[in-house]
Amino acid sequence: QQKGSSLLLDLEKAHYKIDRNIYGHFTEHLGRCIYGGIWVGENSSIPNVRGIRKDIVEAMKKIKVPFLRWPGGCFADEYHWMDGIGPRDKRPTMINTNWGGVTEDNGFGTHEFLDLCEQVGCEPYFSGNLGSGTVRELSQWVEYVNSDDVSPMTELRKKNGRPEPWSVKFWGIGNESWGCGGDMEPDYYSDLAKRYGRFMKDFGDTRLNKIAVGPNGNDYNWTEVVMKELGNSVWGLSLHYYTWNTGEHATDVTEKSWYYSLHNTLMMNELIEKHSKIMDKYDPGKSVALVVDEWGMWHAVEPGTNPGFLYQQNTLRDALVAGINLNIFNNHCDRVKMAAIAQAVNVLQAIILTENEKMILTPTYHVFDMYKVHQDAIMIPSVLETDSISTDRGNIPNLSVSSSLDKNGKIHITVCNLSATDDENLICNLNAFSVKSCEGQILTADKLNAHNTFDDPDKVVVNSFNDFKIGKNKIEINVPKHSVVALELTGD
Ligand code: AHR
Repeated sequence: QQKGSSLLLDLEKAHYKIDRNIYGHFTEHLGRCIYGGIWVGENSSIPNVRGIRKDIVEAMKKIKVPFLRWPGGCFADEYHWMDGIGPRDKRPTMINTNWGGVTEDNGFGTHEFLDLCEQVGCEPYFSGNLGSGTVRELSQWVEYVNSDDVSPMTELRKKNGRPEPWSVKFWGIGNESWGCGGDMEPDYYSDLAKRYGRFMKDFGDTRLNKIAVGPNGNDYNWTEVVMKELGNSVWGLSLHYYTWNTGEHATDVTEKSWYYSLHNTLMMNELIEKHSKIMDKYDPGKSVALVVDEWGMWHAVEPGTNPGFLYQQNTLRDALVAGINLNIFNNHCDRVKMAAIAQAVNVLQAIILTENEKMILTPTYHVFDMYKVHQDAIMIPSVLETDSISTDRGNIPNLSVSSSLDKNGKIHITVCNLSATDDENLICNLNAFSVKSCEGQILTADKLNAHNTFDDPDKVVVNSFNDFKIGKNKIEINVPKHSVVALELTGD
């Protein structure tokens, strides 16, 4: 059965840039993200550069990862950075009390993380420890990585093998201070953030982009208080929202749980709009960024794995969740300037899974690959008229769409068909844009729970797509059920 949707692109209103940092990733000390994932150590038989897996770096480069957030998450508020510098055999151990209670040897610290970012060619984003660290400790971390002056911190950095500063711009002032970061009230947090932030200084040409802890999902009061108190004194305000599954494993997908997840994930749109409205009150010029630095699907852990490690598979459903959220961020790029899916390797909605020397790319990875064309392009506002799908939890739209104009004058349209059962016809009206040619890509599979495994790594991959018809200033697309489609339109 085929129904019909329409999309009107308003090229004349295309003003806002889709910041590449919307396509960011999160690397927490959690489970096998760092140890046993990204970091294998210099003596490993797995190909590595200074202890960092080569295949992971290559995969991240391919999708143009713009930044990595580190070291947490909940981990950040009990991380003491000085334990992670200097000769590795002299670093003290620590217990990761948040995630599995495992002992870590601090082998992966500031220098190793910044080496990772340099290898990937991305910006680092540090989460500072506000929950259990001192003002001095955070202030010295900034000085250690950014200062080129003569000081004990810069001498220490040089002694540890790095003569020049790194210039780390993005700094979180704590993480989830309303929860694992210290169970604070918003006014108390605001006072502390002012104090810690006051002592995080700019060095040389590096201007810090300080990011305050923002709300947990729909905690609008948190945003109200923190914006009132901190306002434009910070560069950004974070938002954390996870898409919860029904409590089942990632691969247990029924039509019911498919729609349950998609319905939940669409809540991101409402959260961004409502938090943005509050931010508009205190920051009408939109200079404070909304930074969605933790998002993604949270399933039950894979059977037989450590429950504290949050290791989960990743299926076609996760791909749709990624596509829908990235469309939402693109469409709100006037306020959302940065986002990080959790977490890059071997944890929640990972783009990469590893098992010893093997590595696979998940369906979510492929969506980031398809969408990378939106990075730094100009968002094209659009009006989508689409059918509704009725689900147990209420109606959801049949399609999710975003589009942008790149620097070469090409239009990119990314479309997700949320239906588990029906293809959908979409007519895109392009106003004055006359299409000369179009190239398409699609990510889909026969089954809703299709996924890649170490034995079958290419079950869900990107294929070329040509089920569209070019008309005068329009294009008509047959968007297959449960698929993510990307089109590149070249004009006459
Ligand atoms: O991503 C896992 C955890 O979820 C993070 O450590 C924390 O910030 C959030 O609650």
